[in-house]
Amino acid sequence: MIKLAPSLLAADLMHLGDEIAGMMKNGVKTLHFDVMDAHFVPNLSFGPGLCQAVHGAFPECTLDVHLMMDQPEAYIDAFAKAGANTLTMHLEVLSDPASALEKIRKAGMRCGLSVKPGTPAELLLPYLDQLDHILIMTVEPGFGGQKFMPDQMEKIRFLRQAGFSGDIAVDGGVNAENAAMVADAGANMLVMGTAYFKADDPAKVAKLIEELS
Ligand code: DX5
Ligand code: ZN
Repeated sequence: MIKLAPSLLAADLMHLGDEIAGMMKNGVKTLHFDVMDAHFVPNLSFGPGLCQAVHGAFPECTLDVHLMMDQPEAYIDAFAKAGANTLTMHLEVLSDPASALEKIRKAGMRCGLSVKPGTPAELLLPYLDQLDHILIMTVEPGFGGQKFMPDQMEKIRFLRQAGFSGDIAVDGGVNAENAAMVADAGANMLVMGTAYFKADDPAKVAKLIEELS
């Protein structure tokens, strides 16, 4: 089954409640929550306070939190308390990925790691047993609305060949046109910011992804 995870970054923030309610009504239950710290990426976004508010208002919404920040270990407990279901950190910033993943597990969340386009997927191999979720970036993290990098599909095939059976999500420039290619490469989760929330008809996008399965 291919899961769609719209990215909050592209939602109309002045009408966030309506945006999430609309998403749930379209049968989409997972919200991708991008956290940016202005250090690891040159942009600032949302923190645990907003995560908690979304969780409080929509307890049935699954929160897929993507930490684009330095020292993400310091925020594990805060996001656990804020209702995050999956917590994904960037491999590039971790000095001891195994112990960071163990902390996420102990805090009761699903464990994720992400790699930027320039980071080889081979570096994830030592952690596959600890991971529920791998997030392959198909743009340089930091901003929505960038162009999808098809050369990253190789990483997905490599990870499936290595035996990884957990979730593989793809993030950055994913849209209705390239979704089938991403799914064919072996990903089972599509993060979509612009292509979902800014679509003329998000319900149609949700249906198209549902039919890919
Ligand atoms: C990029 C973020 C993405 C972003 C995706 O750094 O991690 O989740 O919101 O947006 P689109 O789908 O517009 O590329
Ligand atoms: Zn993201």
